Amino acid sequence: MQQLAAQIAAVRAELEARPEGLVRHVERVLVEALDLAARWDLDPARVELATWGHDLFRSFPPDEQLRLAMEAGLPVVEADRAEPVLLHGPIAAAVLRDRFGVLDDEALSAVRDHTIGGRHMPMIAKVILLADKFEERKRRRTPVMREVRRLAWRDLDLALLCWADWKWVDEREHGWLTHPDHWGARTEWVEEHHREAGLPGRTAGFDLATG
Ligand SMILES: [Fe+2]
Ligand SMILES: [Fe+2]
Repeated sequence: MQQLAAQIAAVRAELEARPEGLVRHVERVLVEALDLAARWDLDPARVELATWGHDLFRSFPPDEQLRLAMEAGLPVVEADRAEPVLLHGPIAAAVLRDRFGVLDDEALSAVRDHTIGGRHMPMIAKVILLADKFEERKRRRTPVMREVRRLAWRDLDLALLCWADWKWVDEREHGWLTHPDHWGARTEWVEEHHREAGLPGRTAGFDLATG
């Protein structure tokens, strides 16, 4: 517990050296994440650690993000090269483990997967991803995030699915690539949702590249 408190203090101090706008964002995420932690009975300290850590490398220039990812031995695919900012979560997770001694796999997963999601996310990771997407300023900018926030109070998985649907439309409208890891995660979430609802699998075999 004492170690966790020390890790929170160290990671928070590191984040507070980042640009002010980013620090304010993380503070807004923390408000939402702690709210959801109380709702879903999660350890607020672990949620706080992951929140302070999630954007440690968000403000780094793209070439630096690429360099850090490769240095840490992280997988870098074409979608990451096109948009190195997508690597800031995986970089932060690696640095939290190696430099800050964070060994909490669920907190590390929350940091790693907060931008595009992952196939099997622990609850803490679902909470951080969603809080990151609907913190106060983002839901003012994108009003549909208010609905996602309301949903997260009732059902975290359904909130994730709705966010993924919104993201899919947003990417198509802008002509942006969909990261293959996000697509893999999303497909898994949809299949899970269908299984839960007792529906036959309708997404099996669907390939993003060929439709
Ligand atoms: Fe981020
Ligand atoms: Fe963030």
